[in-house]
Amino acid sequence: MGGLRRLEYRGYDSAGISVISQGQLATRKKAGKLENLVADIKAHPIADSRIGIGHTRWATHGAPTDQNAHPHLGGQSSKLALIHNGIIENFSELKQELLDAGTSFASETDSEVAAHLIAKEYEASKDLVSAFGKVVNRLHGAFTILVIHEDFPDLILAARKNAPLVIGIGEGENFLGSDVAAFVEHTKRAISVGQDEIVILRPSGVEIQGFDGHKVDSKEFTIDWDASQASKGGWPSFMAKEIADQPQAVADTLMGRINSEGMVTLPEIDGLDAKQLMAIDRIIVVACGTASYAGEIAKYAIEKWAKIPVSVELAHEFRYRDPILTPNTLIVAISQSGETMDTLMATRYAKEQGAKVMAICNTQGATLARESDAVVYTHAGPEVAVASTKALTAQMTAVYLLALFLATGRKSMSAPELSQLGKELLKLPAKVTEVLSSLEQVTDLAKKMSKAKTVLFLGRNVGFPVAMEGALKLKELAYIHAEGFAAGELKHGPIALIEQDQPVIVILPSPSDPLHPKVISNIQEIKARGATVIAIAEVGDKEASKYAENVWYVPATNWLMAPVLTVIPLQVFAMELANAKGLDVDQPRNLAKSVTVE
Ligand code: AGP
Repeated sequence: MGGLRRLEYRGYDSAGISVISQGQLATRKKAGKLENLVADIKAHPIADSRIGIGHTRWATHGAPTDQNAHPHLGGQSSKLALIHNGIIENFSELKQELLDAGTSFASETDSEVAAHLIAKEYEASKDLVSAFGKVVNRLHGAFTILVIHEDFPDLILAARKNAPLVIGIGEGENFLGSDVAAFVEHTKRAISVGQDEIVILRPSGVEIQGFDGHKVDSKEFTIDWDASQASKGGWPSFMAKEIADQPQAVADTLMGRINSEGMVTLPEIDGLDAKQLMAIDRIIVVACGTASYAGEIAKYAIEKWAKIPVSVELAHEFRYRDPILTPNTLIVAISQSGETMDTLMATRYAKEQGAKVMAICNTQGATLARESDAVVYTHAGPEVAVASTKALTAQMTAVYLLALFLATGRKSMSAPELSQLGKELLKLPAKVTEVLSSLEQVTDLAKKMSKAKTVLFLGRNVGFPVAMEGALKLKELAYIHAEGFAAGELKHGPIALIEQDQPVIVILPSPSDPLHPKVISNIQEIKARGATVIAIAEVGDKEASKYAENVWYVPATNWLMAPVLTVIPLQVFAMELANAKGLDVDQPRNLAKSVTVE
């Protein structure tokens, strides 16, 4: 149950467990949040057990109901229990085969089909491991499947195809989880399970084999954060904790990659040698959601500093538009979880086309990290709240490091220029702390705006992705319609939206930026039409307070690095407005932390 609680952020519309105790398989499962399951177990206790599987669900096939919750039981004797993450794409034909053989189903899920198939195979062969192997070879799509059977009280079987699975190695006990958060309180020794692999897990040891039965040698790694980091630590929500963690997340991402002279090294980019790096003639960033906004910042930074053309594509669009890639194209995939199926599919496609892939990922041992030619890890620590905050500012930090690393290798800037930028990067954690310490008025205004029906966000240049992120935060946390615009786009249509008292949040560039007066003009244009303007401006910006009802100030920094600071008031604004509406900021409705299905 502790493991499920740590994974609840990944999907939480129903939950269940199956254990084998006193020789019997016992199952409890309930729709809704985990506490519903806890209450059910309290009402219907289960005797102690040393073997069990548990699951929190994000519904794909079948509504979130008790019956559709996992585990699913297989076979008429119901001695087999199965849990599943992902989608079995050929489940309907397999289900028909079972229906024709007289199998009755208790749920509408694709997962239950696998349970019955394995139980049926086992009835025939009396060999659970081979029955399991046979069935997983018949399944198409994306799945992590775990099975236990009453006849084997010391065995858990697992299979992994296009969905996350990691093993925890304990003392006389072993664990499986979708990510290490599930068992980090019990052990820091972990093994990543690869694509198309089967795990045979017993208290005495773990065997891994391919779907074709060949033995797989596994690589152990040590988890570099502990359970306390994955708990709230006294904060009212994971989101509040993670927003406050941002100075550390930025500092830890810089750690060991930039010296006091501001010179950047990225020792971990060992999968790409200097020749390959120099041959790069195009970079395509693929990502989804908030990570894609970090990608937009990467575009400005890499083009400005490293002089390499960059385009940013939503992974799910990139994958299906037959993009033209060459061996000199570098794909930079940005993903906090490293399990976002859209991003994984995009990078797999790119590799098939011969492009090199570099991941910027926050989760050690994640699928994306293992499938890329090189990985630049962000070190934001576990991000539990569904709405991404510290992972974003850590991703921005990582793309600045990457841009400076490429600029250094390609000598696209002078050493003094590189050093000056690097030193400015080193000051970011302290500036993030400064922003975090002056947000009272953001909180106050958010509470006053809890009745807002729609909020618009305007930004220009690097402020544009910040405007998009501010809108996304408000949508996913406060369920308010919000839209981010490029400020220059306003007069090409969106200004028609402006009416009396329409709240508009504007991200202003530094007063020293040539774009500053243009964005001030945008503010005047919307003020003239009745908008209520909130400006995010650099400390000392006198113009801002002339036109904006509210000004949220952030410290001065290099214009390209400003997003790390200007995004923070927007994170807090969305969180506090959602809090004022009494919403769950850690687990917003309809969302999951990691979207592991396409
Ligand atoms: C951000 O607040 C959302 N939770 C979502 O947009 C997220 O950024 C997106 O799904 C990408 O996730 P990833 O970084 O784990 O790939």
